[in-house]
Amino acid sequence: MDHEMKPHYKDFQTRAVHAGRDDFGALGVHAPPIDLSTTYPFTDLTAASASLDALVAGEANASNPIYARLHNPTVGRFEKALAALEGAEAAVSFGSGMAAFSAVLLAACQEHKHVVGVRPLYGTTDHLFSSGLLGTTVTWTTADGVAEALQPDTGLVVIETPANPTLKLVDIEYVVRQASGVPVLVDSTFATPVLQNPLNHGAALVLHSATKFLGGHGDVIAGVVATSEVWAKRLRQVRLVTGGLLHPLAAYLLHRGLPTLSLRVHRAQESAGELAERLAGHPAVSAVHYPDLRSDPAGRQMRGAGSVLAFEVRGGLPAAQRLLQRVTLMTPAVSLGSTDTLIQHPAGLTHRVVSQADRESSGVSDSLLRLSVGLEGVDDLWADLTQALEASHTQDPVGPRRRSRENNYPKVPGSAGSARGPGLGGRRE
Ligand SMILES: Cc1ncc(COP(=O)(O)O)c(C=O)c1O
Repeated sequence: MDHEMKPHYKDFQTRAVHAGRDDFGALGVHAPPIDLSTTYPFTDLTAASASLDALVAGEANASNPIYARLHNPTVGRFEKALAALEGAEAAVSFGSGMAAFSAVLLAACQEHKHVVGVRPLYGTTDHLFSSGLLGTTVTWTTADGVAEALQPDTGLVVIETPANPTLKLVDIEYVVRQASGVPVLVDSTFATPVLQNPLNHGAALVLHSATKFLGGHGDVIAGVVATSEVWAKRLRQVRLVTGGLLHPLAAYLLHRGLPTLSLRVHRAQESAGELAERLAGHPAVSAVHYPDLRSDPAGRQMRGAGSVLAFEVRGGLPAAQRLLQRVTLMTPAVSLGSTDTLIQHPAGLTHRVVSQADRESSGVSDSLLRLSVGLEGVDDLWADLTQALEASHTQDPVGPRRRSRENNYPKVPGSAGSARGPGLGGRRE
């Protein structure tokens, strides 16, 4: 395999079915082979050394993979396929979304150690930047403040759109213009390549927590960055020395899921739109957050609003806790993008590591619940939500199905200090 892109099929769905499978004819196979080798025998030391040199220089492939930390063919096929879906020259995958973020930071901020971040971002991403763990500093700002936040040593601008967990859209082209040549990374996990291609709007890098929709079945943890070949080379070099690899079994599952990605995303999106509308009319709900592509100027960068929404319940944290106790069809759990519906409390879980003040100033209140809508029937989901909302409204302390469970949902702390890992350093603004 080489990293050169074959001419693209125009239709996303055709690419989703066929990309990354170019070598099947030569191999005489119909499904991607899973290559579990950790090492690859050689017969000619000179040729093996040349392969090693190429991979160490960041090439996507060489005639001999040499060692699985340098290259794996099963992983390489998934990367080619994902690049084709993002319209990118290349993609580089990692063992998780956070491993992907870490590799980008190491690649982008060797000399330029300053990062501009637009909040909200996923809580652990926020923490990666705020903690300065990888030797970077951060200035947090809004989409309007990017130009002003730039410094001579800014190496990266980071945005997430739609944002986790508020579903706020950030106008990619507007941010790219303000960044004046500083590379912009877009975390496009919520949109997937089905609904948004940030590289078409000037972003240098698009990152996915592939754990979510790309995996799609709640059984893979992975991250991937789609970008130019120049960036991809740097990312492969970082991956090679830091070892944040994607396992070939996980790559196989990710590649296997791509042909149905669009079907899953569109089906769940239909239900999410319907639930967002119904929730907006419910007396126990004070606000619904779901992208409105017609009224939001950034809506033009998306081909659909997606299947994650957030809503605020009247009654604050106690009402949110009661609702989580009461749902029976949807599962109270973090993560998103699975076949089934997941509901969680960002201030108490995914964004708990961000301080209360920073959470609140970016719209992550204690009343906010995030819903990742799955593939169940929408009326069954609505029935579950309404009975749970009813309970949260009438202050039924514990729902019937969960009555046996102890209500041990954690109190949201005033400061998230206790939730931070040891030795990760202080916050840097
Ligand atoms: C938007 C977003 N980006 C990045 C991540 C991190 O990905 P991972 O959990 O695969 O490391 C997550 C995880 O929830 C996320 O929601």
